[in-house]
Amino acid sequence: MQGYGQATYGDRMADVYDRVHHAWEPTSTVDTVAELADGGPVLELGVGTGRVALPLAARGLKVTGVDVSEKMLDRLREKDPDGQVETVLGDFVDCPVSGEFKVVLVVNSLLQLAGADTQQLCLRNIRRHLAPDGVLVVEEANPAAFTGAGLQVLRMTSDELHLLAAQYDPVHQHYFAQHVVMREDGTRMHPMALRLTSTCELDLMAELAGMRLAGRWGDWARTRPFFASDRSHISLYRPIEENR
Ligand SMILES: C[S@@+](CC[C@H](N)C(=O)[O-])C[C@H]1O[C@@H](n2cnc3c(N)ncnc32)[C@H](O)[C@@H]1O
Repeated sequence: MQGYGQATYGDRMADVYDRVHHAWEPTSTVDTVAELADGGPVLELGVGTGRVALPLAARGLKVTGVDVSEKMLDRLREKDPDGQVETVLGDFVDCPVSGEFKVVLVVNSLLQLAGADTQQLCLRNIRRHLAPDGVLVVEEANPAAFTGAGLQVLRMTSDELHLLAAQYDPVHQHYFAQHVVMREDGTRMHPMALRLTSTCELDLMAELAGMRLAGRWGDWARTRPFFASDRSHISLYRPIEENR
């Protein structure tokens, strides 16, 4: 999408992100990640406004969050006056942190990396920062649930119209979307670009990076398997022993 850079999504969403995603209640996410971390340090890549990282830190875990959008990190810090979450401004492809983590968490962020090459590089860098008994925890969009190109009315009231315009390039697996929110006082545009990677491709990329699928679910409570109709999957990857 012309004019779209790494920080565009976050910079254009930061002031409305928490309100728009209020339905993404993080309790079961935090329960699962806290259990997997078992008191160890957690790294969240694409930490955003701290929707998950802040309640995780409130459980007493050491949490580091990386994000490329200064505006998203500003929102996080506003909600975190005591600095419970350590924030790092940067491209998470590089995992710009030091040390090893018990959990590396990537929630709805990995597919924002624009190509198979950058997603693969990111997984390799994650592997370098995983403790031997660590786990990579991913929540990602299910490409099969994306309807592709078109224009949808998401919400229409007497004073607001929310449209979603989308394009899909199947050759490069690039999905471009523009949320357009029109009100009496003006129009806001929230662009988003994803490289839609299937679960099979993600598993292969992880394997090539030295990690193997250890479980996949359709919900954070891990009560049911992932189905093709789910909007997203929760996947766990563990380091492959012989590659260490
Ligand atoms: C959909 S939000 C998810 C935020 C948070 N994980 C959550 O679940 O609420 C994606 C986040 O990833 C960040 N992001 C996208 N590409 C990035 C990159 N290359 N490096 C660092 N952060 C990135 C965006 O700025 C945004 O904050």
